Amino acid sequence: MSDKLIIFDTTLRDGEQSPGASMTKEEKLRIAKQLEKLRVDVIEAGFAASSNGDFEAVRAVADVIKDSTVCSLARANDRDIARAAEALKNAKSMRIHTFMATSALHMEKKLRMMPEQVHEQIKLAVRYARQFTDNVEFSPEDGSRSDLDFLCRVLETAIAEGATTINFADTVGYAVPELYGNLIRTLRSRVPNSDKAVWSVHCHNDLGMAVANSLAGVMAGARQIECTINGLGERAGNTSLEEVVMAVKTRRDFFKLDVGIDTTQIVPASKLVSGITGFPVQPNKAVVGANAFAHASGIHQDGVLKQRDTYEIMRAEDVGWAANKIVLGKLSGRNAFKQRLQELGIQLESEQDVNAAFQRFKDLADRKAEIFDEDIHALVSDQAVRHEADEHCQLVSMAQASETGERPHARVTMIVDGKETTSEADGNGPVDATFKAIESRLASGAELMLYSVNAITTGTESQGEVTVRLAKSGRIVNGVGADPDIVVASAKAYLSAVNKLHSKADRVNPQAGGI
Ligand code: KIV
Ligand code: ZN
Repeated sequence: MSDKLIIFDTTLRDGEQSPGASMTKEEKLRIAKQLEKLRVDVIEAGFAASSNGDFEAVRAVADVIKDSTVCSLARANDRDIARAAEALKNAKSMRIHTFMATSALHMEKKLRMMPEQVHEQIKLAVRYARQFTDNVEFSPEDGSRSDLDFLCRVLETAIAEGATTINFADTVGYAVPELYGNLIRTLRSRVPNSDKAVWSVHCHNDLGMAVANSLAGVMAGARQIECTINGLGERAGNTSLEEVVMAVKTRRDFFKLDVGIDTTQIVPASKLVSGITGFPVQPNKAVVGANAFAHASGIHQDGVLKQRDTYEIMRAEDVGWAANKIVLGKLSGRNAFKQRLQELGIQLESEQDVNAAFQRFKDLADRKAEIFDEDIHALVSDQAVRHEADEHCQLVSMAQASETGERPHARVTMIVDGKETTSEADGNGPVDATFKAIESRLASGAELMLYSVNAITTGTESQGEVTVRLAKSGRIVNGVGADPDIVVASAKAYLSAVNKLHSKADRVNPQAGGI
């Protein structure tokens, strides 16, 4: 058995299935480049058959990524598999990941198929996928609630047809570590050709056990973990990459496995994904939360000052907290800015875009002495959203008055469909008044589902990054806005979400493709 643990990242596919987390091609590309820097073994770039947008995104990722295998999801049918293969055709190393539900519940109620029909379809699908590549993964969806005998037969067939990875999915997060580990162990011993495939774990976090289940699977012989940055994913999310990687690295004495991840890229990856998707990271989140290395109690502080490992089992700099570098300032020129964009893997489409980003950088540097990498990511995300949304509405200026004992008032001037307009409103606070002023003009009809504020870097000088989640007619979008003034950041986030709702750009969530 190999002692290398394969890290398969599915932030761009399963992670994207979180409500409001759908990404554009450009955003996926930026995350894919960061995942490559992180040295993940496999990047699941999307579900090519789910939409034209996702097809183009998978293709774009496959075209540029050289150091990681690029994978696309595909249902177990010829059309999906051919679409995945087409999108991946320029990849230096490609994988097709096909799946089909195997639990009685899913087969009967969702697929409306008999088990033998499902078995046959899996056989044909894996066989067909092998015509395009010798790197084929098969997942029995809802595997952890499937009948063991049926699973053994189906997985034996999938391997016999050439599946090189078998990914045992706990689709609804129902498993518990001991049982999940036992299932993997039993499958590996009962499926006669089990040694011809790498066994993989794919766990959801509905009961908060995704990481524990994945690691139990690894102890039972799985050698691939499917995970996402920040544990992003459908409902309660997926196994979080940073947690499993740091668990295996920190407790190498126990797991005795190697992972190829460059852990110093973990925090930058976490911040990038959070900024792009608008899913903030909770402060007490393991490894990447703002408090993960903070010691508040006097006893702990005293211990750490005397000898760090009294209370720290990992070093902040090893997971990339030190990567929070001051990169540029007010006096930095266009060339320095362009070079930093390159170092961060950000490719703007034209010189015009670079000029616009540089202008925004200069405006920010006038208001904030130290510009960090996170500031640059926020600035570029903001610009990409503007671009893509075709600027239905744009913030020109705003003012608010708030005083103890008075009801806050806001005035917002925007350009809406090319025309400048000003609106005013009162509210419970300056942010509420600002949103009401915007809505009194736009009447978007959208429902506000989430509002959150985060400091992008440290200190009170930091830009505030605001996420606004809006829902309308079944569509959910996240808008993100950054500014040293958090009320301005809030207005930007609100308008960015409204622009996304208005936009025709293809950011179809893969769920629409029918998983
Ligand atoms: O959770 C799941 O079952 C999946 C499969 C497509 C692997 O994401
Ligand atoms: Zn999943």
